[in-house]
This record gives sequence, structure tokens and C-alpha cells, in this order.
Amino acid sequence: MKLSKIYQLFFLAGGLGFFLSACSSALEPTTLKDGYAGKFLIGAAINTNISSGRDTASIRVLQEEFNSVSPENCMKSEVLQPEKGVFFFDDADQYVKFGEENKMAIIGHCLIWHSQAPHWFFTDENGKDVSREELIQRMKDHITTVVSRYKGKIKGWDVVNEAILDDGSWRESKFYQIIGEDFIKLAFEFARAADPDCELYYNDYSMANEGKRNGVVKMIQKIQEAGVKVDGIGMQGHCTLNFPDLNEFEKSLLAFSELGCQVNITELDLTVLPGYDPSVGADVAASQEYQQTLNPYAEGLPEEVANQLSARYTDLFKLFLKHHDKIDRVTLWGITDDASWRNDWPIKGRTDYALLFDRNHQPKPVVKELIKLVNN
Ligand code: G3I
Repeated sequence: MKLSKIYQLFFLAGGLGFFLSACSSALEPTTLKDGYAGKFLIGAAINTNISSGRDTASIRVLQEEFNSVSPENCMKSEVLQPEKGVFFFDDADQYVKFGEENKMAIIGHCLIWHSQAPHWFFTDENGKDVSREELIQRMKDHITTVVSRYKGKIKGWDVVNEAILDDGSWRESKFYQIIGEDFIKLAFEFARAADPDCELYYNDYSMANEGKRNGVVKMIQKIQEAGVKVDGIGMQGHCTLNFPDLNEFEKSLLAFSELGCQVNITELDLTVLPGYDPSVGADVAASQEYQQTLNPYAEGLPEEVANQLSARYTDLFKLFLKHHDKIDRVTLWGITDDASWRNDWPIKGRTDYALLFDRNHQPKPVVKELIKLVNN
């Protein structure tokens, strides 16, 4: 065969190879929701700046990268029913409409929570604790009114949030003190009656703690034995560069899955700031005095720490991918660093870098790595 023929064949093969590789890279997903399609939903908690349409930059990122939304605050009981029988649905209606318009899987958060519950919920006209019967009725009225309003629009509700402590014991909330353990079973029954088709979840933080894991398993088993279906368990995923131990997190993930529940990673973020106390978990009531030493990156994040953040997020998503058959959704608790609650908790006025998109609404380098993980 003449030399020129061979060159032509090589040239053709090279061109074909280039064309195919160009095609395949053009076909490779470039966004989180596309990268994880078929593995699990990629969600984000959104505030009213986003659901109202005001924060156009964050909305653009949300539309490109995410396929599920959670309401950061607008569906909490202190917002929805600030006074007995007086409901405020404007922000929640806007959130649900925003989710529908953007074809997102819409999550409801959260029906029963000891925190951000209006004071009247537990108090009678004399300022004393209400009776067990009255609190059950108030819980039923709240859940029935809210869940019925959004029937058929909400994929799933965080029915009860943060009812178990790190040692597995019951949080001594007013719900527990006045009603007893049954408040959880009752809450799920009320929600199921209001919308038989939406998923119902239990949600909590520090779920990698062995004590909490065992306490949650025991509590869920008890309500399942009473005939209540728990569709999912939310592991909030408020992490640091070192906490939690991912082996412990995996044990909890497996334990919850073995209950027959889907696992949702519901509130993922990753603080890089010092001063975290694992015994506090994500207890919103926690607070500490501001000290400059606890806010070391106000002027920017050193490359070394940015690399640690990337590595930690990569390790987390490797674990989620390993168990994608058990995980229905991974929700980041916010979109961009500037909007993260972690800038003000447990210490107000700090600069954290807890999320996947920076203060300029740009993806951090780790986003591309997370997408590559799926293909590899
Ligand atoms: O909307 C009011 C505003 O009118 C008022 O001027 C201002 C004065 O402080 O408060 C505003 O409400 C704040 C609300 O966020 C909206 O910004 C509340 O004070 C503040 O406590 C609330 O913080 C939220 C916190 O839950 C308590 O509800 C955080 O944004 C939210 O990220 C955080 O999320 C919780 C999850 O729901 C449950 N798991 C833990 C997670 C972190 O604590």
C-alpha cells in the first residue's frame, strides 16, 4: 500500500478519534442535576429572595444546577401560623409556585419542630401549658391545614424535625413533655390523612452519632410497629472539614435504609471556620461570642483550605454515590456562600465558605470534580 494511503488512513483515524472525543465531551454532563440524573435529586434550600424572583443571579444557578427545592424558612410553623387560627401563606404559596414553574421536586419543611414554633402553640389563655388533648388538636389543625393546602404539589414533608438527642434520648420539647412519645406518630398520621400521596420524613442533625442513630432507629421502628409508614429519613448533613466521621455517617445511612426508608441528605453544608462544637450539632439555639480568631477568612479563603473543602465535598459525594440506591435526594442548605446560615451561626458576622457556589455565583472547582465522579 502506498505511503500516502497509510498517511490518509492515519489522518482519517485521527480525525475520527478527535471527532468522537469531541462528541463524547460535548455529551458529558456539565451540571450537578444532569451529572447525578438517575442517581439522586440535587436540591437546594431557597429563601424568599429567590422564591420571590428578586435574586436573579441565584435563580439562574438554581435553574441550571438543581432539580429540587426546600424552603429555608417560609413553611415553619411560626411563619405559617403566627397566631392561633391566623395563617400567613403568602411566602409559602410563592415558594410552591416557584417550584412548580421551575419544574422542581418541591419539599415541605417542617411541620413539627420544637424550634421556631410560635409560643401560643403550647400556651392556654392563662399562660399555662395547654392540655395534652388541646395540643394534639392544635397539632392536627396545623398539619391538616398546611398539608391539605399543598396537596399534590409537595413531593415530601419533613413532618417532625430534631426530636432525638445525640445520646438517643428524647428531646424534652413541649411536644414531648405535654403529649409524650406519641406526638411523632400522631404528626405522621395527621399528615398522611391530609395528603395520602406525599412522602413523609423524619429529619435530624448529627445523625452520624451512634447514640442518635440508635435512638432514631428505635423511635422509627416503634411508630412503624404502630402502623405508621415513614417514607424517608433526613440526615441533615451540616458538616465540618473533620466532622462527622464518614464511617459513622455510612453506618447511620445503612441503618436508616434497613428500616425500609429512603435516605435524604437534607441540609448539606460544610463549614471551614474554627470553633465548631460537635456536641452542639446544628442546634439553631446555640450561639457564641464573636472573636476575630474565629473568623480567619474574612478577606478570602486560603488555597490550602479551599483544597480541603473540595476534598471533603468529594469524599461526601463518593459516599453518597456508593449508596445512591438508598439515597433519594442530596439537598445543599443554600446555593451561594453569602446566603448560608453558617455565616451567622453559632457566631454572628463571620465569613464562611460552606456551599458549592461562591459569592460571585460561580461554581467552585469542586463542582466539576463532583460531576466527574459519576462518570468515573
Ligand atoms: O424573617 C425575619 C425578619 O423579618 C426579622 O427582621 C429577622 C430579625 O432577626 O429575623 C428573620 O427571621 C430569621 C429567619 O432565619 C429568616 O432569615 C430568624 O430570625 C432566624 O432565626 C432564621 O434562621 C433560620 C434557622 O433555621 C431558624 O429557623 C436559618 O435561616 C435556617 O437556615 C435554619 O435552618 C435550620 C433548619 O430549618 C433545620 N435544621 C437546622 C438548620 C440550621 O439551623
